[in-house]
Amino acid sequence: FAELVRQASALPWERFLRKRGRVAFRVTCRKSRLYHSGAVAERLHAALESRARFAVPLAQGAGEEAPADAQLFLARFEHDLCTVSVDSSGALLHQRGWRGPQAKAPLRETLAAALLLGAGFTGEQPICDPLCGSGTIAIEAALIAIRQAPGIARSFAFQRWPEFSARQWEHLTVAARKHERPLPARIEAGDQDAGAVAATSENAARAGVEIAVIQRRLADLPPDPGGGLMACNLPYGVRIAADARILFEELAAAAHRRPAWRVAIVAASARGASGLRLTTLLRTKSGGIPIEMLVSA
Ligand SMILES: C[S@@+](CC[C@H](N)C(=O)[O-])C[C@H]1O[C@@H](n2cnc3c(N)ncnc32)[C@H](O)[C@@H]1O
Repeated sequence: FAELVRQASALPWERFLRKRGRVAFRVTCRKSRLYHSGAVAERLHAALESRARFAVPLAQGAGEEAPADAQLFLARFEHDLCTVSVDSSGALLHQRGWRGPQAKAPLRETLAAALLLGAGFTGEQPICDPLCGSGTIAIEAALIAIRQAPGIARSFAFQRWPEFSARQWEHLTVAARKHERPLPARIEAGDQDAGAVAATSENAARAGVEIAVIQRRLADLPPDPGGGLMACNLPYGVRIAADARILFEELAAAAHRRPAWRVAIVAASARGASGLRLTTLLRTKSGGIPIEMLVSA
């Protein structure tokens, strides 16, 4: 511990502290003599205060994300080597700043964007999410299509660092806004649930994007002779596996009515999707549940 405190006291903590702000630590220890993460966090906090020369209150309970008014530091002890990093984001990066009402089981914005980009979506082609929930996929598609910089509408932890230059940030965001363009193609979102439709409309308004939102069952999705991308996420969870099978069948039928449209989906499993001829793009987790991203050729 003495060596940890000695070396940590030389770190330039003050560059990341706000006057009267709190700090939080998230520590992991692996294969190291110092294995008690709480005790390591305590020593790092002491080192920080000794370097700053003023008391810095500690915020408790830094889970995935620190409290909004606290600067989060992360320390990873591995094989007796401690790496300290500073969280520059604040709220998790999937939070772009547009989300208001949530429907059931919303997809993280970053996963929606990954699905779209992985499917080769550039914004020029129409998009339809027939199972839109709170509208995440349609809204992220619109933001990609208008070329809005991700997260431009939110704030970041680094904006509270003493060296942060509001002028420079303004300069960068104005430059990023210059790349934006009007929506080139139609974006449509549908859901059978009235609450989901209302949530999508409100979220789209908050994001400042134009989306056609329709209350409709997937089975009623009309044919379309043009091309486009049908992108959606199926409800996942063990309880609803049977429902997912029916939805896969309905999606295959919808894709049949739109032969020039490609399909991109997020689902807990591709089982039941044989009618769609999908290939796996990515396997990851969403809310702790393993999921697959699948696209048609
Ligand atoms: C997993 S949620 C989608 C979540 C959405 N991607 C989001 O981020 O909020 C699935 C949605 O499909 C809708 N849904 C389920 N079966 C449907 C059907 N047969 N037709 C239309 N919508 C349906 C549900 O109402 C629910 O909002």
